[in-house]
Amino acid sequence: MSSAVEPRNQNRVIIFDTTLRDGEQSPGAAMNLEEKRRIAFVLEELGVDVIEAGFPIASNGDFEAVNEIAKTIKNSTICGLARARAPDIERAAEALKPAAQSRIHIFLATSPLHMKHKLQMEPPKVLQAVIDSVTLARKLCDDVEWSAEDGTRSEHDFLCRCVEAAIKAGARTVNIPDTVGYTTPQEYADLIKMLINRVPNIDQAIVSTHCHNDLGLAVANSLAGVINGARQVECTINGLGERAGNAALEEIVMSLKVRHDLMPFTTGINTEVIMRASHLVSTITGFPVQPNKAVVGANAFAHESGIHQDGMIKNRQTYEIMTPQSVGLTKTSLKLGKLSGRNAFRSKLLELGYTLGDNALTEAFNRFKDLADRKKDIFDEDIMALVDDEVAHAHDRVRFISLEVQAGSKGPQRATLELEIDGKKVSSVATGNGPVDATFNAVKDLMPHQAKLLLYQVSAVTAGTDAQAEVTVRLEENGRTVNGQSADPDTIVASARAYIHALNKLAIKRLKTAPPEDVQMTAE
Ligand code: KIV
Ligand code: ZN
Repeated sequence: MSSAVEPRNQNRVIIFDTTLRDGEQSPGAAMNLEEKRRIAFVLEELGVDVIEAGFPIASNGDFEAVNEIAKTIKNSTICGLARARAPDIERAAEALKPAAQSRIHIFLATSPLHMKHKLQMEPPKVLQAVIDSVTLARKLCDDVEWSAEDGTRSEHDFLCRCVEAAIKAGARTVNIPDTVGYTTPQEYADLIKMLINRVPNIDQAIVSTHCHNDLGLAVANSLAGVINGARQVECTINGLGERAGNAALEEIVMSLKVRHDLMPFTTGINTEVIMRASHLVSTITGFPVQPNKAVVGANAFAHESGIHQDGMIKNRQTYEIMTPQSVGLTKTSLKLGKLSGRNAFRSKLLELGYTLGDNALTEAFNRFKDLADRKKDIFDEDIMALVDDEVAHAHDRVRFISLEVQAGSKGPQRATLELEIDGKKVSSVATGNGPVDATFNAVKDLMPHQAKLLLYQVSAVTAGTDAQAEVTVRLEENGRTVNGQSADPDTIVASARAYIHALNKLAIKRLKTAPPEDVQMTAE
């Protein structure tokens, strides 16, 4: 096994995306295999150097995801996480076997707090575990990364010895995580500088950052690391990740691009794919992007006040430090309407970066025609929501056919629902406390289950009262969590479809997986 990541250029920063691993550790962000594949494809298109696809020992689902992504992605290095123990490392190597370029990522905590209370290991035993685990991993994979978990709260002397030992045992990348999001830019800058100055063999490895966002400093800390010699940044799309998340990929990459004058570093990222990646991750996980989020928020390029609008008309640079196009927000060059044909629709999909097979294209086109009949203006966001929805529902066993709802101030509200289950049409009439409740009761009648509703979320895809509603439904059953999504101009229809989607996914999960294992992030 070899790696695609060989930065000869001193100023090239490796982008290591961990949306599928650290990102998936966000409560409620669980993704199925198909969803992980879709995200991996967009990450490859984005030009991510390393995709951390999962933690293969954690569950069969994680193993399968890493293995499947290793088979299909060719232009990025595929990475699997492992604790500093042989079964983890061997399982990661097994999952990564089909990869064109692979990496095993081993982590072990080095802070006094973690060593004493979590690992219950003395420092000499930790040091030996670093050497043994990296040595074993190097026998199975050329590209090994070692991470000092809770690195920012570790004693410097001990951290230096561990980093040196990891490199001597064969680690090509040494990662210094701010696991609990505790550090500050100056402190992290000093830490990276200290390692580069003190570890004698540091020139034989890439130093990496991995910053969490508990104090909102993850991006600033990562950039401070880069300015002081780190040449890999670990990050996630939309800053998804444990607790307050990880450093956001789009913010790191655009900061390096926009402030190249201060930070003369390059990445291999095709920034025009950022918006699509952000939308896909948000739709799949059901984690909305806040409107004022840097780079990818709905308002990131909106200029509301009169003074700003006036400035923009005179010269865009007065209030715009990067163009919307540079992150993939297209100024629609091709407008679609109800008279648009299949070719125009296909061209629009290509413009937005989607390539669909013939059947999927036909299904999506039919839905587009239906949407164009009901909605005056079709925006790019509508097309993206429609296609993402079509792809997400392609494998559903239970399909939505029709819904009639009686709503209004005089209850009870009533829903008449028709579904197709394994090719057979079934229907139900139910009442409820409001139209959504009535609809969900009708779904439950046709698809009985014990799952708990964790989230029901509605957002508008665009402005206007005829906007499509994008609905996420999160369900939990025996520790398994799934997200269902759908978009439709009718909020209740979108709600029904999202609920059915979640139940379809839960049914697949029940069949495919044993109850989720609780793999602790410890060494033993
Ligand atoms: O935050 C952290 O320390 C991690 C490690 C597993 C790298 O995610
Ligand atoms: Zn982390």
